[in-house]
Amino acid sequence: MIQIAVLGYGTVGSGVVEVINTNHDSINKRAENEINIKYVLDLRDFPGDPVEKVLVHDYEVIANDPEVDVVVEVMGGVEPAYTFTKRALEAGKSVCTSNKELVARHGTELLAIAKEHGANYLFEASCGGGIPIIRPLNSSLTADEIDEVTGILNGTTNYILSKMASDGSDFADVLKEAQRLGYAERNPEADVEGYDACRKIAILSSLAYGKEVNYEEVYTEGITKITAEDIKYATSMGTAIKLLATSRKVGDQYYAMVSPVMIDAKNPLYSVNGVFNAIFIHGNVLGDAMFYGSGAGKLPTASAVVADVVDCAKNKGRNIMMSWSEEKLDLLQIDDVKS
Ligand code: HSE
Repeated sequence: MIQIAVLGYGTVGSGVVEVINTNHDSINKRAENEINIKYVLDLRDFPGDPVEKVLVHDYEVIANDPEVDVVVEVMGGVEPAYTFTKRALEAGKSVCTSNKELVARHGTELLAIAKEHGANYLFEASCGGGIPIIRPLNSSLTADEIDEVTGILNGTTNYILSKMASDGSDFADVLKEAQRLGYAERNPEADVEGYDACRKIAILSSLAYGKEVNYEEVYTEGITKITAEDIKYATSMGTAIKLLATSRKVGDQYYAMVSPVMIDAKNPLYSVNGVFNAIFIHGNVLGDAMFYGSGAGKLPTASAVVADVVDCAKNKGRNIMMSWSEEKLDLLQIDDVKS
C-alpha cells in the first residue's frame, strides 16, 4: 500500500482525487501497489464531499506520519509549498507537483535533496499540462544534444489569442472564460504577462541543457499589448500570433525568450489552437520531435500528477529523476541576440 497526502484541494487537487478514484484499478496495477489517499490538506472545509473524511488542516499531521510515502503538492505558489516540499523530501517522502513556480525557483535544490534521501521530486504536470514532456527529457531524449526547445506553453494565452482570431472576441471576455474553465492562474497576470510560460521554458531548458536556467534572466513579454487590429492584420497575412517560449543553442551560446510571434502555416505550431499546448524539440541526432496535447485544466494536469505518483510507487526508495547541475547556464541577453 502506498499512502499519499494531497496538499491543496483546488482545481488540480480535486482532479488528482478524481483521477485516482476513476482509474483506480489500472493505476494500482501499473503502480504495482494500492494507492491510498490518506490525507487531503486544505484550509477550507468540504461538507458532504467524500474527501471530508480524510481532510486535515495542519501539515504537521502529514509531516509527522511515517506511513505517508508520497506527497502531492498542488497548492501553487512558493510558500508554504517550498517548506512543505523540503520537509517531505528530507524525511524520504517523494513529492509530485504541478507547481511550476516552485520548480523554476527551487527545483535545483529540491532535486538534490530528493536524491540525497532516496526519494523523488517529480513535476511532469509543471509544463504542458497533460502532455508528456518532462519524462521524455528525462529518458527518451537523453542520447541527444538538444539545441532547441520552442513551445506554446500557456493554455490561457493560447485560448485567448485563438478566440480573438476565430471570432474577434474581446480580450477581457475570453480571459474571464479561461478563468471559468479553470485554465488561468489565480492571478492571471502570470498568464497574460508571460511569466508562467517563462517559468516553464526555464524548467524545460534546464533539463534539456543540463544546467540551471535562471527564469529571471529570460526575456519575457506577454500578450497584453496585442490588439484586435493586430490579430486582424496577422490573419490577413496568413499568419497567427502565438505566445512562443523558446530557448536555443547558437554555437556555444544559449538564449531564451518568451514573446508573441507571428508565425505562418508552415510552422508546426501554427495550428495549435485553444487551450492546447505544443512543444517542439530539436536534437542533434534525433532531428525534430513535437509533443502536443491538453496544456491546462483539471483532469489533464491531474493525469500527469498521478502518473508521477505511479512512478514514485514503483520506485520507492530509488531516485529516478535526472537533475541538472547547480551551475547556471549563461544566457545571451536580448540586446546581444539583436546585434
Ligand atoms: N495557467 C496555466 C496555463 C495552467 O494557462 O497554461 C497550466 O500550467
